[in-house]
Amino acid sequence: MLPQHLWVLISTAVGVLAATAPTKRATVCNGHAEFCSRLYSNVTYIGAHDSFAFSEDPPCTCVVLLNPPACTSNAFASSVARDQEVNITAQLDLGIRLLQAQSHTDNSTGTFNFCHTSCDLFNGGPVLDYLKIVKTWLDSNPNEVLTLLFTNPEGQSPANVWKPIFDEAGISNLTYIPPSLPIKQSDWPTLGSMIDNGTRVVVFLDSQADGPEPVNFILPEFSMVWETPFSVTNASFPCSVNRIHGPLATEDHIYLINHSLNINIIPIGSGVIISDPLAAPTTNGITSILANANGCAPLGGNRAPSFVLLDYVNIGQAFQAADILNGLVSPSSSASGAAPTSSKKSGALSAVNSPQWRWWASWTFAIVALGESWGRIL
Ligand SMILES: *[C@@H]1O[C@H](CO)[C@@H](O)[C@H](O)[C@H]1NC(C)=O
Ligand SMILES: *[C@@H]1O[C@H](CO)[C@@H](O)[C@H](O)[C@H]1NC(C)=O
Ligand SMILES: *[C@@H]1O[C@H](CO)[C@@H](O)[C@H](O)[C@H]1NC(C)=O
Ligand SMILES: *[C@@H]1O[C@H](CO)[C@@H](O)[C@H](O)[C@H]1NC(C)=O
Ligand SMILES: *[C@@H]1O[C@H](CO)[C@@H](O)[C@H](O)[C@H]1NC(C)=O
Ligand SMILES: *[C@@H]1O[C@H](CO)[C@@H](O)[C@H](O)[C@H]1NC(C)=O
Ligand SMILES: *[C@@H]1O[C@H](CO)[C@@H](O)[C@H](O)[C@H]1NC(C)=O
Repeated sequence: MLPQHLWVLISTAVGVLAATAPTKRATVCNGHAEFCSRLYSNVTYIGAHDSFAFSEDPPCTCVVLLNPPACTSNAFASSVARDQEVNITAQLDLGIRLLQAQSHTDNSTGTFNFCHTSCDLFNGGPVLDYLKIVKTWLDSNPNEVLTLLFTNPEGQSPANVWKPIFDEAGISNLTYIPPSLPIKQSDWPTLGSMIDNGTRVVVFLDSQADGPEPVNFILPEFSMVWETPFSVTNASFPCSVNRIHGPLATEDHIYLINHSLNINIIPIGSGVIISDPLAAPTTNGITSILANANGCAPLGGNRAPSFVLLDYVNIGQAFQAADILNGLVSPSSSASGAAPTSSKKSGALSAVNSPQWRWWASWTFAIVALGESWGRIL
Protein backbone atom coordinates (compact mmCIF):
# COMPACT_ATOMS: atom_id res chain seq x y z
CA MET A 1 0.00 0.00 0.00
CA LEU A 2 1.30 3.44 -0.87
CA PRO A 3 0.85 6.12 1.71
CA GLN A 4 -2.04 8.48 1.00
CA HIS A 5 0.13 11.50 0.19
CA LEU A 6 2.00 9.54 -2.50
CA TRP A 7 -1.29 8.66 -4.24
CA VAL A 8 -2.18 12.31 -4.22
CA LEU A 9 1.18 13.16 -5.76
CA ILE A 10 0.86 10.51 -8.45
CA SER A 11 -2.66 11.43 -9.45
CA THR A 12 -1.77 15.11 -9.52
CA ALA A 13 1.18 14.32 -11.78
CA VAL A 14 -1.01 12.26 -14.09
CA GLY A 15 -3.56 15.05 -14.19
CA VAL A 16 -0.92 17.61 -15.05
CA LEU A 17 0.51 15.32 -17.72
CA ALA A 18 -2.89 14.78 -19.27
CA ALA A 19 -3.57 18.49 -19.32
CA THR A 20 -0.26 19.42 -20.91
CA ALA A 21 0.35 16.38 -23.13
CA PRO A 22 0.72 17.65 -26.65
CA THR A 23 -2.00 16.47 -29.02
CA LYS A 24 -0.70 14.11 -31.67
CA ARG A 25 1.13 16.11 -34.29
CA ALA A 26 1.30 15.23 -37.95
CA THR A 27 4.86 14.21 -38.86
CA VAL A 28 4.17 13.85 -42.57
CA CYS A 29 2.04 16.41 -44.41
CA ASN A 30 0.99 15.89 -48.04
CA GLY A 31 3.59 13.16 -48.27
CA HIS A 32 6.57 15.08 -46.91
CA ALA A 33 7.86 15.77 -43.40
CA GLU A 34 9.26 19.13 -44.48
CA PHE A 35 5.82 20.32 -45.62
CA CYS A 36 4.39 20.23 -42.08
CA SER A 37 6.12 23.49 -41.19
CA ARG A 38 5.51 25.13 -44.57
CA LEU A 39 2.74 27.59 -45.14
CA TYR A 40 -0.18 26.28 -47.19
CA SER A 41 0.63 29.12 -49.57
CA ASN A 42 4.25 28.07 -50.01
CA VAL A 43 3.62 24.70 -51.61
CA THR A 44 3.02 23.99 -55.30
CA TYR A 45 0.05 21.66 -55.79
CA ILE A 46 -0.95 19.98 -59.02
CA GLY A 47 -4.62 20.53 -59.85
CA ALA A 48 -7.11 18.79 -62.13
CA HIS A 49 -9.02 21.11 -64.46
CA ASP A 50 -12.64 19.98 -64.95
CA SER A 51 -11.90 17.09 -62.60
CA PHE A 52 -15.45 15.74 -62.98
CA ALA A 53 -15.20 15.72 -66.79
CA PHE A 54 -13.42 12.40 -67.02
CA SER A 55 -14.11 9.51 -69.27
CA GLU A 56 -12.17 6.31 -68.99
CA ASP A 57 -13.47 5.05 -72.36
CA PRO A 58 -11.05 5.25 -75.23
CA PRO A 59 -12.68 7.52 -77.81
CA CYS A 60 -11.91 5.05 -80.55
CA THR A 61 -14.78 2.83 -79.47
CA CYS A 62 -16.89 5.27 -81.41
CA VAL A 63 -14.42 6.19 -84.06
CA VAL A 64 -15.50 2.96 -85.66
CA LEU A 65 -18.06 4.81 -87.71
CA LEU A 66 -18.50 1.61 -89.66
CA ASN A 67 -20.01 0.20 -86.51
CA PRO A 68 -22.57 2.81 -85.42
CA PRO A 69 -23.94 0.81 -82.46
CA ALA A 70 -20.56 1.34 -80.80
CA CYS A 71 -21.22 5.08 -80.94
CA THR A 72 -23.15 5.67 -77.76
CA SER A 73 -23.94 9.10 -76.38
CA ASN A 74 -20.75 8.59 -74.44
CA ALA A 75 -18.84 9.00 -77.66
CA PHE A 76 -19.05 12.74 -77.73
CA ALA A 77 -18.05 13.07 -74.10
CA SER A 78 -15.12 10.74 -74.58
CA SER A 79 -13.88 12.45 -77.66
CA VAL A 80 -14.30 16.14 -77.13
CA ALA A 81 -15.92 17.28 -73.92
CA ARG A 82 -13.81 15.33 -71.48
CA ASP A 83 -10.70 16.97 -69.99
CA GLN A 84 -9.59 14.00 -67.88
CA GLU A 85 -9.14 10.29 -68.44
CA VAL A 86 -9.22 8.99 -64.85
CA ASN A 87 -11.84 9.31 -62.11
CA ILE A 88 -11.75 11.62 -59.07
CA THR A 89 -10.34 9.02 -56.69
CA ALA A 90 -7.69 8.04 -59.21
CA GLN A 91 -6.78 11.72 -59.69
CA LEU A 92 -6.35 12.14 -55.93
CA ASP A 93 -4.38 8.90 -55.68
CA LEU A 94 -2.03 10.14 -58.40
CA GLY A 95 -1.27 13.17 -56.20
CA ILE A 96 -3.77 15.80 -57.34
CA ARG A 97 -4.32 18.24 -54.44
CA LEU A 98 -6.58 20.79 -56.13
CA LEU A 99 -9.82 19.77 -57.75
CA GLN A 100 -11.46 22.30 -60.06
CA ALA A 101 -15.02 21.89 -61.28
CA GLN A 102 -17.75 23.93 -62.99
CA SER A 103 -21.28 23.95 -61.59
CA HIS A 104 -24.56 24.09 -63.52
CA THR A 105 -28.17 23.37 -62.73
CA ASP A 106 -29.26 20.24 -64.56
CA ASN A 107 -32.67 21.31 -65.75
CA SER A 108 -33.71 17.79 -66.59
CA THR A 109 -33.35 16.62 -62.99
CA GLY A 110 -33.44 19.93 -61.12
CA THR A 111 -30.21 18.96 -59.34
CA PHE A 112 -27.12 21.10 -58.88
CA ASN A 113 -24.42 19.36 -60.88
CA PHE A 114 -20.93 19.65 -62.25
CA CYS A 115 -21.22 19.97 -66.04
CA HIS A 116 -18.84 20.99 -68.79
CA THR A 117 -20.20 24.19 -70.32
CA SER A 118 -23.69 22.68 -70.37
CA CYS A 119 -25.25 19.59 -68.83
CA ASP A 120 -26.25 18.50 -72.34
CA LEU A 121 -22.62 18.41 -73.35
CA PHE A 122 -21.01 16.62 -70.41
CA ASN A 123 -22.98 15.85 -67.28
CA GLY A 124 -20.72 14.98 -64.35
CA GLY A 125 -23.65 14.31 -62.00
CA PRO A 126 -24.69 16.02 -58.74
CA VAL A 127 -22.19 18.10 -56.76
CA LEU A 128 -23.31 16.09 -53.72
CA ASP A 129 -22.23 12.76 -55.23
CA TYR A 130 -18.90 14.29 -56.22
CA LEU A 131 -18.28 15.67 -52.71
CA LYS A 132 -19.12 12.31 -51.14
CA ILE A 133 -16.38 10.70 -53.24
CA VAL A 134 -13.97 13.42 -52.07
CA LYS A 135 -15.04 12.88 -48.44
CA THR A 136 -14.39 9.15 -48.66
CA TRP A 137 -10.91 9.86 -49.98
CA LEU A 138 -10.25 12.49 -47.27
CA ASP A 139 -11.24 10.01 -44.57
CA SER A 140 -8.75 7.46 -45.79
CA ASN A 141 -6.00 10.08 -46.26
CA PRO A 142 -5.99 12.03 -42.96
CA ASN A 143 -2.62 13.73 -43.49
CA GLU A 144 -3.50 15.44 -46.75
CA VAL A 145 -4.50 19.05 -47.30
CA LEU A 146 -6.80 19.45 -50.30
CA THR A 147 -8.07 22.52 -52.17
CA LEU A 148 -11.43 22.64 -53.92
CA LEU A 149 -11.85 25.38 -56.53
CA PHE A 150 -15.34 25.53 -57.93
CA THR A 151 -16.83 27.89 -60.46
CA ASN A 152 -20.26 29.33 -59.96
CA PRO A 153 -21.34 30.67 -63.37
CA GLU A 154 -25.03 30.80 -62.37
CA GLY A 155 -24.18 32.86 -59.28
CA GLN A 156 -25.83 30.38 -56.90
CA SER A 157 -26.02 31.39 -53.25
CA PRO A 158 -23.15 30.09 -51.10
CA ALA A 159 -25.41 29.98 -48.03
CA ASN A 160 -28.52 28.48 -49.60
CA VAL A 161 -27.17 26.25 -52.36
CA TRP A 162 -23.52 25.38 -51.71
CA LYS A 163 -23.32 25.07 -47.92
CA PRO A 164 -26.14 22.52 -47.52
CA ILE A 165 -24.37 20.28 -50.04
CA PHE A 166 -21.03 20.54 -48.21
CA ASP A 167 -22.86 19.84 -44.93
CA GLU A 168 -24.60 16.76 -46.30
CA ALA A 169 -21.36 15.42 -47.79
CA GLY A 170 -19.68 15.82 -44.37
CA ILE A 171 -17.00 18.19 -45.63
CA SER A 172 -18.03 21.46 -43.92
CA ASN A 173 -16.35 20.64 -40.63
CA LEU A 174 -13.11 19.64 -42.36
CA THR A 175 -12.72 23.07 -43.93
CA TYR A 176 -10.29 25.81 -43.03
CA ILE A 177 -12.05 28.96 -41.78
CA PRO A 178 -9.71 31.96 -41.81
CA PRO A 179 -9.82 34.41 -38.90
CA SER A 180 -10.34 37.24 -41.39
CA LEU A 181 -10.45 37.91 -45.12
CA PRO A 182 -8.64 38.33 -47.41
CA ILE A 183 -5.63 36.20 -46.42
CA LYS A 184 -2.24 37.50 -47.53
CA GLN A 185 0.21 35.02 -49.03
CA SER A 186 2.33 35.25 -45.88
CA ASP A 187 -0.63 34.78 -43.52
CA TRP A 188 -1.81 31.29 -44.45
CA PRO A 189 -1.36 28.62 -41.77
CA THR A 190 1.12 25.75 -42.04
CA LEU A 191 0.03 22.41 -43.47
CA GLY A 192 0.90 20.87 -40.10
CA SER A 193 -1.51 23.07 -38.17
CA MET A 194 -4.29 22.51 -40.70
CA ILE A 195 -3.89 18.74 -40.42
CA ASP A 196 -3.56 18.83 -36.61
CA ASN A 197 -6.75 20.89 -36.33
CA GLY A 198 -8.67 18.74 -38.79
CA THR A 199 -9.24 21.79 -40.99
CA ARG A 200 -7.46 20.58 -44.10
CA VAL A 201 -9.87 21.43 -46.90
CA VAL A 202 -9.64 24.89 -48.48
CA VAL A 203 -12.68 25.86 -50.54
CA PHE A 204 -12.60 28.64 -53.14
CA LEU A 205 -15.51 29.83 -55.25
CA ASP A 206 -14.87 32.10 -58.25
CA SER A 207 -17.96 34.26 -57.80
CA GLN A 208 -20.56 35.18 -55.16
CA ALA A 209 -18.40 34.06 -52.22
CA ASP A 210 -18.11 37.75 -51.34
CA GLY A 211 -21.72 38.41 -52.32
CA PRO A 212 -24.73 39.01 -50.09
CA GLU A 213 -24.97 35.42 -48.75
CA PRO A 214 -21.43 34.47 -47.73
CA VAL A 215 -20.34 31.34 -45.86
CA ASN A 216 -17.29 31.43 -43.58
CA PHE A 217 -15.55 28.47 -45.25
CA ILE A 218 -16.35 29.34 -48.87
CA LEU A 219 -13.57 31.75 -49.80
CA PRO A 220 -13.68 34.34 -52.59
CA GLU A 221 -11.01 33.15 -55.02
CA PHE A 222 -9.85 36.31 -56.75
CA SER A 223 -9.21 38.41 -53.66
CA MET A 224 -6.53 35.85 -52.69
CA VAL A 225 -5.60 33.97 -55.86
CA TRP A 226 -4.82 35.31 -59.32
CA GLU A 227 -4.86 33.19 -62.45
CA THR A 228 -3.18 33.19 -65.80
CA PRO A 229 -5.44 33.47 -68.87
CA PHE A 230 -7.53 30.48 -69.89
CA SER A 231 -8.27 28.87 -73.22
CA VAL A 232 -4.63 29.37 -74.14
CA THR A 233 -3.64 28.11 -77.60
CA ASN A 234 0.00 29.29 -77.48
CA ALA A 235 2.27 26.47 -76.26
CA SER A 236 4.70 29.03 -74.77
CA PHE A 237 2.00 30.09 -72.29
CA PRO A 238 2.86 33.79 -72.16
CA CYS A 239 2.17 34.82 -68.56
CA SER A 240 -0.12 37.60 -67.42
CA VAL A 241 -2.32 38.31 -64.42
CA ASN A 242 -5.75 37.54 -65.77
CA ARG A 243 -8.25 37.68 -62.98
CA ILE A 244 -7.62 39.33 -59.64
CA HIS A 245 -9.30 41.75 -57.37
CA GLY A 246 -8.14 43.90 -54.51
CA PRO A 247 -7.48 45.11 -51.97
CA LEU A 248 -4.32 42.98 -51.63
CA ALA A 249 -1.32 43.71 -53.85
CA THR A 250 -0.69 41.21 -56.65
CA GLU A 251 2.34 39.71 -54.89
CA ASP A 252 0.32 39.20 -51.71
CA HIS A 253 -1.96 36.83 -53.61
CA ILE A 254 -1.05 33.24 -54.33
CA TYR A 255 -1.45 32.25 -57.96
CA LEU A 256 -2.63 29.53 -60.28
CA ILE A 257 -1.22 28.76 -63.70
CA ASN A 258 -3.90 27.52 -66.06
CA HIS A 259 -1.53 25.14 -67.80
CA SER A 260 -3.86 23.42 -70.20
CA LEU A 261 -3.23 23.81 -73.87
CA ASN A 262 -6.24 24.14 -76.09
CA ILE A 263 -6.62 23.84 -79.79
CA ASN A 264 -8.91 25.83 -81.97
CA ILE A 265 -10.28 23.10 -84.20
CA ILE A 266 -12.43 25.44 -86.32
CA PRO A 267 -10.43 28.66 -86.63
CA ILE A 268 -13.32 30.69 -88.05
CA GLY A 269 -15.10 33.43 -86.14
CA SER A 270 -14.76 32.79 -82.42
CA GLY A 271 -13.73 29.23 -83.24
CA VAL A 272 -14.22 26.00 -81.33
CA ILE A 273 -11.68 25.55 -78.56
CA ILE A 274 -11.14 22.11 -77.11
CA SER A 275 -8.44 20.72 -74.87
CA ASP A 276 -5.64 19.15 -76.85
CA PRO A 277 -4.92 15.58 -75.72
CA LEU A 278 -2.29 15.05 -78.39
CA ALA A 279 -0.19 17.80 -76.81
CA ALA A 280 -0.68 16.59 -73.23
CA PRO A 281 2.59 14.62 -72.96
CA THR A 282 4.51 17.78 -73.86
CA THR A 283 2.25 20.25 -72.04
CA ASN A 284 2.33 18.17 -68.88
CA GLY A 285 6.06 17.54 -69.19
CA ILE A 286 8.64 19.05 -66.85
CA THR A 287 10.03 21.52 -69.39
CA SER A 288 6.71 23.12 -70.25
CA ILE A 289 5.51 23.38 -66.65
CA LEU A 290 8.78 24.84 -65.37
CA ALA A 291 8.91 27.32 -68.25
CA ASN A 292 5.41 28.54 -67.46
CA ALA A 293 6.19 28.77 -63.74
CA ASN A 294 9.44 30.64 -64.41
CA GLY A 295 7.65 33.02 -66.78
CA CYS A 296 5.09 33.84 -64.10
CA ALA A 297 7.39 34.07 -61.08
CA PRO A 298 8.31 37.75 -61.62
CA LEU A 299 4.59 38.59 -61.46
CA GLY A 300 4.11 36.41 -58.37
CA GLY A 301 6.64 37.87 -55.95
CA ASN A 302 9.35 35.62 -57.44
CA ARG A 303 7.60 32.61 -56.01
CA ALA A 304 6.46 29.47 -57.74
CA PRO A 305 2.76 29.09 -58.50
CA SER A 306 0.74 27.53 -55.69
CA PHE A 307 -1.42 25.70 -58.22
CA VAL A 308 -0.61 24.16 -61.60
CA LEU A 309 -3.96 23.32 -63.23
CA LEU A 310 -3.84 20.58 -65.86
CA ASP A 311 -5.98 18.56 -68.22
CA TYR A 312 -5.22 14.81 -68.53
CA VAL A 313 -3.40 14.62 -65.19
CA ASN A 314 -2.51 10.96 -65.74
CA ILE A 315 -0.30 11.94 -68.67
CA GLY A 316 3.12 13.55 -68.32
CA GLN A 317 5.45 14.38 -65.43
CA ALA A 318 3.58 17.01 -63.48
CA PHE A 319 4.35 15.52 -60.10
CA GLN A 320 8.07 15.51 -60.80
CA ALA A 321 7.75 19.14 -61.90
CA ALA A 322 6.03 19.92 -58.59
CA ASP A 323 8.86 18.22 -56.68
CA ILE A 324 11.30 20.57 -58.41
CA LEU A 325 9.17 23.66 -57.76
CA ASN A 326 8.85 22.56 -54.13
CA GLY A 327 12.63 22.26 -53.79
CA LEU A 328 12.45 18.53 -53.05
CA VAL A 329 14.69 17.60 -55.97
CA SER A 330 17.02 19.68 -58.10
CA PRO A 331 16.08 20.31 -61.72
CA SER A 332 19.29 18.70 -62.98
CA SER A 333 18.52 15.36 -61.34
CA SER A 334 15.31 15.00 -63.33
CA ALA A 335 14.85 14.10 -66.93
CA SER A 336 13.62 17.04 -68.90
CA GLY A 337 11.34 17.41 -71.83
CA ALA A 338 8.23 15.71 -73.00
CA ALA A 339 7.18 12.71 -71.04
CA PRO A 340 5.83 9.44 -72.24
CA THR A 341 2.23 8.99 -71.17
CA SER A 342 1.72 7.29 -67.86
CA SER A 343 -1.70 6.09 -68.94
CA LYS A 344 -2.37 2.76 -67.35
CA LYS A 345 -4.35 1.45 -70.31
CA SER A 346 -2.86 -1.73 -71.62
CA GLY A 347 -2.87 -4.08 -74.57
CA ALA A 348 -5.43 -3.39 -77.25
CA LEU A 349 -6.80 -0.43 -75.31
CA SER A 350 -3.47 1.33 -75.27
CA ALA A 351 -3.10 0.90 -79.02
CA VAL A 352 -6.51 2.33 -79.78
CA ASN A 353 -6.01 5.01 -77.14
CA SER A 354 -2.81 6.23 -78.75
CA PRO A 355 -2.44 9.97 -79.33
CA GLN A 356 -3.05 9.59 -83.03
CA TRP A 357 -6.30 7.84 -82.43
CA ARG A 358 -7.41 10.40 -79.89
CA TRP A 359 -6.55 13.13 -82.29
CA TRP A 360 -8.53 11.56 -85.05
CA ALA A 361 -11.45 10.96 -82.74
CA SER A 362 -11.45 14.52 -81.45
CA TRP A 363 -11.61 15.97 -84.90
CA THR A 364 -14.28 13.62 -86.09
CA PHE A 365 -16.58 14.19 -83.21
CA ALA A 366 -15.97 17.86 -82.87
CA ILE A 367 -17.10 18.31 -86.43
CA VAL A 368 -20.05 15.96 -86.01
CA ALA A 369 -21.12 17.82 -82.90
CA LEU A 370 -20.67 21.30 -84.26
CA GLY A 371 -24.35 21.96 -84.67
CA GLU A 372 -24.87 21.79 -80.96
CA SER A 373 -21.72 23.09 -79.47
CA TRP A 374 -20.26 25.71 -81.76
CA GLY A 375 -17.69 27.64 -79.81
CA ARG A 376 -19.12 26.79 -76.46
CA ILE A 377 -16.67 24.28 -75.07
CA LEU A 378 -14.52 25.89 -72.39
C1 LIG B 1 -11.68 4.82 -60.35
O1 LIG B 1 -10.53 4.43 -61.06
C2 LIG B 1 -9.80 3.42 -60.40
C3 LIG B 1 -8.48 3.24 -61.13
O2 LIG B 1 -8.69 3.17 -62.49
C4 LIG B 1 -10.62 2.14 -60.32
O3 LIG B 1 -9.91 1.13 -59.65
C5 LIG B 1 -11.89 2.46 -59.57
O4 LIG B 1 -12.74 1.34 -59.57
C6 LIG B 1 -12.62 3.64 -60.19
N1 LIG B 1 -13.72 4.02 -59.32
C7 LIG B 1 -14.95 4.04 -59.75
C8 LIG B 1 -16.00 4.45 -58.75
O5 LIG B 1 -15.27 3.77 -60.89
C1 LIG C 1 -31.98 25.99 -66.81
O1 LIG C 1 -33.11 26.80 -66.64
C2 LIG C 1 -32.81 28.15 -66.30
C3 LIG C 1 -34.10 28.85 -65.99
O2 LIG C 1 -35.15 28.32 -66.71
C4 LIG C 1 -32.06 28.79 -67.46
O3 LIG C 1 -31.71 30.11 -67.13
C5 LIG C 1 -30.78 28.01 -67.69
O4 LIG C 1 -30.08 28.53 -68.79
C6 LIG C 1 -31.10 26.54 -67.93
N1 LIG C 1 -29.85 25.82 -67.94
C7 LIG C 1 -29.50 25.00 -68.91
C8 LIG C 1 -28.20 24.31 -68.77
O5 LIG C 1 -30.23 24.81 -69.90
C1 LIG D 1 -18.05 16.59 -38.34
O1 LIG D 1 -19.39 16.28 -38.48
C2 LIG D 1 -19.69 14.91 -38.31
C3 LIG D 1 -21.12 14.69 -38.66
O2 LIG D 1 -21.92 15.71 -38.17
C4 LIG D 1 -19.34 14.50 -36.91
O3 LIG D 1 -19.61 13.14 -36.75
C5 LIG D 1 -17.89 14.77 -36.65
O4 LIG D 1 -17.56 14.49 -35.31
C6 LIG D 1 -17.56 16.21 -36.95
N1 LIG D 1 -16.12 16.38 -36.85
C7 LIG D 1 -15.57 17.41 -36.26
C8 LIG D 1 -14.07 17.49 -36.31
O5 LIG D 1 -16.23 18.27 -35.71
C1 LIG E 1 -5.35 25.40 -34.88
O1 LIG E 1 -5.83 25.59 -33.57
C2 LIG E 1 -5.01 26.45 -32.79
C3 LIG E 1 -5.56 26.44 -31.37
O2 LIG E 1 -6.94 26.70 -31.40
C4 LIG E 1 -4.99 27.83 -33.40
O3 LIG E 1 -4.14 28.68 -32.67
C5 LIG E 1 -4.49 27.73 -34.82
O4 LIG E 1 -4.59 29.00 -35.46
C6 LIG E 1 -5.31 26.73 -35.61
N1 LIG E 1 -4.74 26.56 -36.91
C7 LIG E 1 -5.52 26.49 -37.99
C8 LIG E 1 -4.86 26.19 -39.26
O5 LIG E 1 -6.72 26.66 -37.95
C1 LIG F 1 -8.77 27.67 -66.69
O1 LIG F 1 -9.10 27.54 -68.02
C2 LIG F 1 -10.43 27.18 -68.30
C3 LIG F 1 -10.59 27.08 -69.77
O2 LIG F 1 -9.71 26.17 -70.31
C4 LIG F 1 -11.40 28.17 -67.71
O3 LIG F 1 -12.72 27.73 -67.91
C5 LIG F 1 -11.16 28.29 -66.23
O4 LIG F 1 -11.97 29.28 -65.70
C6 LIG F 1 -9.72 28.61 -65.99
N1 LIG F 1 -9.49 28.63 -64.56
C7 LIG F 1 -9.75 27.64 -63.76
C8 LIG F 1 -9.44 27.82 -62.33
O5 LIG F 1 -10.20 26.58 -64.16
C1 LIG G 1 3.34 32.81 -78.06
O1 LIG G 1 3.97 33.33 -76.89
C2 LIG G 1 5.33 33.74 -77.09
C3 LIG G 1 5.92 34.09 -75.75
O2 LIG G 1 5.24 35.14 -75.15
C4 LIG G 1 5.33 34.90 -78.09
O3 LIG G 1 6.67 35.28 -78.34
C5 LIG G 1 4.67 34.44 -79.39
O4 LIG G 1 4.57 35.53 -80.28
C6 LIG G 1 3.28 33.87 -79.13
N1 LIG G 1 2.75 33.30 -80.37
C7 LIG G 1 1.56 33.64 -80.85
C8 LIG G 1 1.15 32.94 -82.11
O5 LIG G 1 0.85 34.46 -80.31
C1 LIG H 1 8.16 28.83 -51.28
O1 LIG H 1 9.24 29.56 -50.76
C2 LIG H 1 10.49 29.38 -51.44
C3 LIG H 1 11.54 30.13 -50.70
O2 LIG H 1 11.20 31.49 -50.61
C4 LIG H 1 10.35 29.84 -52.89
O3 LIG H 1 11.52 29.56 -53.59
C5 LIG H 1 9.20 29.08 -53.54
O4 LIG H 1 9.00 29.57 -54.84
C6 LIG H 1 7.93 29.24 -52.74
N1 LIG H 1 6.84 28.45 -53.34
C7 LIG H 1 5.58 28.89 -53.38
C8 LIG H 1 4.57 28.02 -54.04
O5 LIG H 1 5.26 29.94 -52.87
